[in-house]
Amino acid sequence: MFSKKELKLAYVLAICLLVVGAVSYAAFPLKAPEEPIRIMYSVTAGKVLFDHKTHGSETGFGVDCLDCHHHPGESDEETMLACSDCHAPPPAGQKVNPTCLDCHEADEIEDAEVPNTGDAYHAQCIGCHKDFGAGPVECSQCHVM
Ligand code: HEC
Ligand code: HEC
Ligand code: HEC
Ligand code: HEC
Ligand code: HEC
Repeated sequence: MFSKKELKLAYVLAICLLVVGAVSYAAFPLKAPEEPIRIMYSVTAGKVLFDHKTHGSETGFGVDCLDCHHHPGESDEETMLACSDCHAPPPAGQKVNPTCLDCHEADEIEDAEVPNTGDAYHAQCIGCHKDFGAGPVECSQCHVM
């Protein structure tokens, strides 16, 4: 059994947590997804570690955000999306990915050739490493684990 003192302490703690929760919620309203630091892709070919922060920062490889977040709709940090948001194939029976419809009419883009997510990564990641003459280009240099 709990003593009265323990119970009182528990109530005080619970109220404190509630207040902290409410204040945090108000201070950090919902906003665009955070810029990731590192991303680990788990694929059957072997895991790939992508260091987002180092690629994009001046003290790292200094790649411009828009070189990767390439679609015209991704014009500022607030609108940068995950590649898969656009590059995942449309659901069965639909001609275009629903994300596109946030910004376009279906008939205006249904002929666009959008590579699937895997091909989009390979083309962009490897393409840039080749252009720079630096960074991994062989399967086993990326799919290391
Ligand atoms: C070398 C390529 C590259 C550069 C440079 C880059 N990003 Fe990214 N970014 C990515 C990839 C890849 C993802 C992960 C997308 C996924 O997993 O589908 C990502 C994800 C994001 C996300 C999360 C999107 C979501 O919905 O989860 C944000 C926000 C973001 N980047 C912002 C930025 C900003 C701001 C910069 C510049 C400071 C930047 N990125 C530079 C490739 C890059
Ligand atoms: C966040 C908003 C946004 C999303 C999501 C988006 N687009 Fe766009 N798209 C734009 C803007 C802005 C332009 C440039 C102005 C224009 O041509 O309408 C553009 C241009 C285009 C163009 C013209 C050629 C080019 O690349 O400049 C095509 C084709 C296109 N989008 C297809 C798509 C498809 C397919 C999807 C989904 C896979 C998609 N867009 C998702 C905003 C978006
Ligand atoms: C807002 C939607 C959108 C996002 C987010 C997006 N793409 Fe694309 N991507 C497209 C569309 C639409 C096309 C085809 C039409 C075009 O070329 O603009 C395309 C084409 C490509 C191509 C083919 C070559 C080229 O540039 O035309 C590659 C490679 C590619 N994307 C890689 C990526 C990678 C990697 C990411 C994440 C860092 C990403 N895309 C994020 C919409 C998007
Ligand atoms: C627009 C250019 C660009 C794109 C796109 C790009 N990279 Fe890189 N990447 C670089 C550069 C530059 C280096 C640095 C090479 C050096 O200095 O040794 C690098 C290095 C790396 C390295 C080795 C260093 C480390 O961080 O461990 C890995 C792994 C890597 N990239 C993975 C990726 C993956 C995965 C993608 C796609 C999601 C990607 N890169 C997309 C430019 C790019
Ligand atoms: C620059 C880094 C890089 C190199 C080099 C690379 N990959 Fe990948 N690969 C990735 C990333 C990142 C993904 C995750 C894509 C996703 O989440 O859909 C991936 C996904 C895959 C997938 C699962 C998705 C798909 O496309 O079916 C396979 C299979 C794959 N890679 C095989 C290979 C093979 C084979 C090679 C060599 C010819 C190779 N990769 C070279 C980074 C790389």
